[in-house]
Amino acid sequence: MSFVVAIDGPAAAGKGTLARRIAEHYGFHHLDTGLTYRATAKALLDRGLPLDDEAVAEGMARELDLSGLDRAVLSRHEIGEAASKVAVMTPVRRALVEAQRRFSLKEPGAVLDGRDIGTVVCPGAPVKLYVTASPEVRAKRRLDEIVANGGNADYAAIFADVRTRDERDMARADSPLKPAQDAHLLDTSEMSIEAAFSAAKSIIDARLEQ
Ligand code: DC
Repeated sequence: MSFVVAIDGPAAAGKGTLARRIAEHYGFHHLDTGLTYRATAKALLDRGLPLDDEAVAEGMARELDLSGLDRAVLSRHEIGEAASKVAVMTPVRRALVEAQRRFSLKEPGAVLDGRDIGTVVCPGAPVKLYVTASPEVRAKRRLDEIVANGGNADYAAIFADVRTRDERDMARADSPLKPAQDAHLLDTSEMSIEAAFSAAKSIIDARLEQ
């Protein structure tokens, strides 16, 4: 049976970096499930289709090929905005959750990160992590990332954006962001990526040895 590591948490908490590091260390497959919502939204935008028609959006979600997700293209801000609109639609979520569950069965194991992995997609995962950091730290990390990539941005605007996204993810009726009851909480506000990885590794190793 494959081994699943479920990672959830708010935007810019460092879960993607942590998930990639875990997948690389254990030789597991990795899926950033946010990209599946982003790719669905981009498919609609590219075809000039509306973002508020559930049946059309579900059709795009069902056609999605998980092997062709391009993080560089999909990380654009406008695509994130459009993704948060399709992510509230139950038929879209149902289609993408089915594809994510199929992915989670890959041998020898899979790391999935998102908002509802431990609660909805893989509730039976042997390891569930809920990765958070204060909104101030998350906004600062996002700003540093933009600057490091040669862009420029305003801290206050990014901070406001982080708060809006938290509100939207947590207030959603279908599959809101929240820790699973048996999730390990990892607050990375004052932790380096190596420290977060080392904490996660202890939890995973303990389960692999059982
Ligand atoms: O993490 P992200 O910014 O790439 O996510 C894009 C959007 O998709 C965001 O609005 C949250 C949503 N999402 C979700 O509803 N469920 C997931 N498992 C992953 C992302």
